[in-house]
Amino acid sequence: MYLFKTEITENRQLSPSISCLRIKAAEDFCRKAAPGKFVMLGNDNELSDPLLKRPFGISNWGNDWFEVVIKIIGKGTAQLARLRRGAAVSVNGPLGTGYPPPTCATCDNDNETLILVAGGIGIASIASCLLPVAANRYLKKPTVLLFGAAVENELVLLDEIKQSTAGLRIETITDDGSSGRRGFVTDLLKNELENSTALTFACGPEPMLKSVQQVLRSYNAQGYLSLENRMACGFGVCLGCVQAIVGNAGKGQNAKVCTQGPVFAADEVIF
Ligand SMILES: Cc1cc2nc3c(=O)[nH]c(=O)nc-3n(C[C@H](O)[C@H](O)[C@H](O)COP(=O)(O)OP(=O)(O)OC[C@H]3O[C@@H](n4cnc5c(N)ncnc54)[C@H](O)[C@@H]3O)c2cc1C
Ligand code: FES
Repeated sequence: MYLFKTEITENRQLSPSISCLRIKAAEDFCRKAAPGKFVMLGNDNELSDPLLKRPFGISNWGNDWFEVVIKIIGKGTAQLARLRRGAAVSVNGPLGTGYPPPTCATCDNDNETLILVAGGIGIASIASCLLPVAANRYLKKPTVLLFGAAVENELVLLDEIKQSTAGLRIETITDDGSSGRRGFVTDLLKNELENSTALTFACGPEPMLKSVQQVLRSYNAQGYLSLENRMACGFGVCLGCVQAIVGNAGKGQNAKVCTQGPVFAADEVIF
């Protein structure tokens, strides 16, 4: 884990409330980035306000840079999303355990499809399996991206994903039908699971993840959920992020999402 001050090299506005920041970083940091890992990011202003850094998934990275995609929610995200090229930021990361690598025991079946499910800004974490060159090993299996958002202009990063992952099948859906199909991303997930054996990675708001968990259970399918619990420290000290999970003996226990997650086996999470 690295703690450093650096600068923004680019800010691309993806929608009225969503920006993508490219941030300069050392090669060592970039080598340790992996799909599903995150950073704590702080606006390095003189007032240190807000005091605490905020967590964001590392959506993409290269040799000496990484990107985060920020949706404006409150004070911290509003400040960060508006920073311009050259602005100073503080970074702590890469943090957490990401999506399981394809060599893990649960992912050995090459015939199964990899289903990536993104809800809203959850696309930032899911994109980390699709955008960086380092992540292309995730795509040895047939892969489909299912992306749901409230409205069409929140279906961000699709052009970048299409460019980096030629031939990827992408299905989108919005709450209001503005992208052509109305409904929830879990409707798309049910369709996929009807037709194939699959491993699913999902990231999005808690109600969506809860619903993904129920769908996976009903199809007896395996998956992983990336949680977005509120975090104060990001490295296991404050206990601000705890999540009830099923422990070893089948009993409930608390897990720190920042260090034991944010990615958990879907069946492990107790919502
Ligand atoms: C591991 C992880 C990865 C994340 N990745 C991304 C990402 O890639 N892009 C992105 O835009 N966001 C991401 N988030 C969420 C992001 O960190 C929060 O939106 C941000 O911390 C809000 O800060 P704020 O100062 O703008 O809002 P605040 O002023 O702190 O809060 C504004 C309002 O939002 C609510 N709120 C804040 N954070 C959360 C949360 N995590 N869950 C539910 N409600 C919340 C507060 O209760 C409050 O009502 C991630 C969170 C985690 C834990
Ligand atoms: S955010 Fe502090 S322990 Fe997880």
